[in-house]
Amino acid sequence: MKSSRIIGLGHYVPENIIKNKDLEAIMDTNDAWIVERTGIHERRWFNPDKDTVANMATRAAKIAMERAKIKVSEIDFIVFATITPDYFFPGSGVLMQRELGLQGIGAIDIRNACSGFIYGLSVADQFIKTGMYKTILVVGAEIQSSAVDKSTEGRSSAVIFADGAGAAILRACDPAEGGILSTHLHADGDFAEELYVRDPGSSRKVRLSEELIKGPTFNLTMNGNAVFKHAVVRFSEVIGEALAANNMKAEDIDLLVPHQANLRISNYVQKQMNMPDEKVFNNIMYYGNTTAASIPIALSEAWEKGKINEGDIICLAAFGSGFTWASALIKW
Ligand code: UT7
Repeated sequence: MKSSRIIGLGHYVPENIIKNKDLEAIMDTNDAWIVERTGIHERRWFNPDKDTVANMATRAAKIAMERAKIKVSEIDFIVFATITPDYFFPGSGVLMQRELGLQGIGAIDIRNACSGFIYGLSVADQFIKTGMYKTILVVGAEIQSSAVDKSTEGRSSAVIFADGAGAAILRACDPAEGGILSTHLHADGDFAEELYVRDPGSSRKVRLSEELIKGPTFNLTMNGNAVFKHAVVRFSEVIGEALAANNMKAEDIDLLVPHQANLRISNYVQKQMNMPDEKVFNNIMYYGNTTAASIPIALSEAWEKGKINEGDIICLAAFGSGFTWASALIKW
């Protein structure tokens, strides 16, 4: 059986930088609170005249393909993780496919929020292991800034969530070369309403009305405390599961790339795993929480900074809406 390796990474973030000071002008918040509670200093918000979820993903994918030194035509399949697709349907996977000129190959969207990219990696890995495909493009892309309530009422979410895209090229390899060692996926729908956007949902008499648009159910709703408390437990648990499955210990991890939910969550997990600073990669300070895009953006940036080398053990872990949580252990 084959394994799958990541042979190229790329990311794209919108040019529009929103600093904490800029948020102070539109809602009752302040730089000190945001930095202390989240670690975020600035984030990117999309430009409606220029950026879409699909085209940001396309830009990230082109960089990943260039670095992988492959032609676009070598991609056999697309896995697109997003909870903020450009259309209600179809998904953004087919839109990116069209932009890349890859009409005809299969494309699926994955709607598993912050865990979406790891779920996507896992799906792609299974296709490669069975021999169905050889080269798969996996992306995570989001525009969250248009889903949050930017008034004081929505401030606890509005200061966190942001926009961007990241991409990885997976290719079949010999298991001796390393690659994805394991993925572990979990979900618990009991907590679906702790972090969600309710409308425009299909199980309503009318999907869209003026009343709905003005109401709170149209915006992202998050019980931040509940999400935080579950996240710190599940992150450590799912990383532990990955290590146990591969007969490894936390010391064996060369780089942990956690979903960038909140710097306090990453720091807490780091402490629980007893890992030194140089073995945990965080960039939430500059990009905020970009949901499904956060891990591929962080992975791509860590690679650019020379923090990922051949033979390294890289651990990815995520927790988010659903609740869903997941990990991937990779030998680079
Ligand atoms: O991506 C995966 C899913 N998301 C997450 O993992 C996020 C997890 N949750 C969190 O990161 C944190 O819960 C938040 C950053 C969202 C909130 O931090 P917190 O420490 O849990 O704050 P809190 O909601 O308990 O609020 C504390 C206080 C409140 O004031 P009072 O009631 O104590 O007077 C809030 O009204 O902070 C206030 N507050 C703010 N103040 C200034 C909430 N948001 C803000 C804000 N600026 N943006």
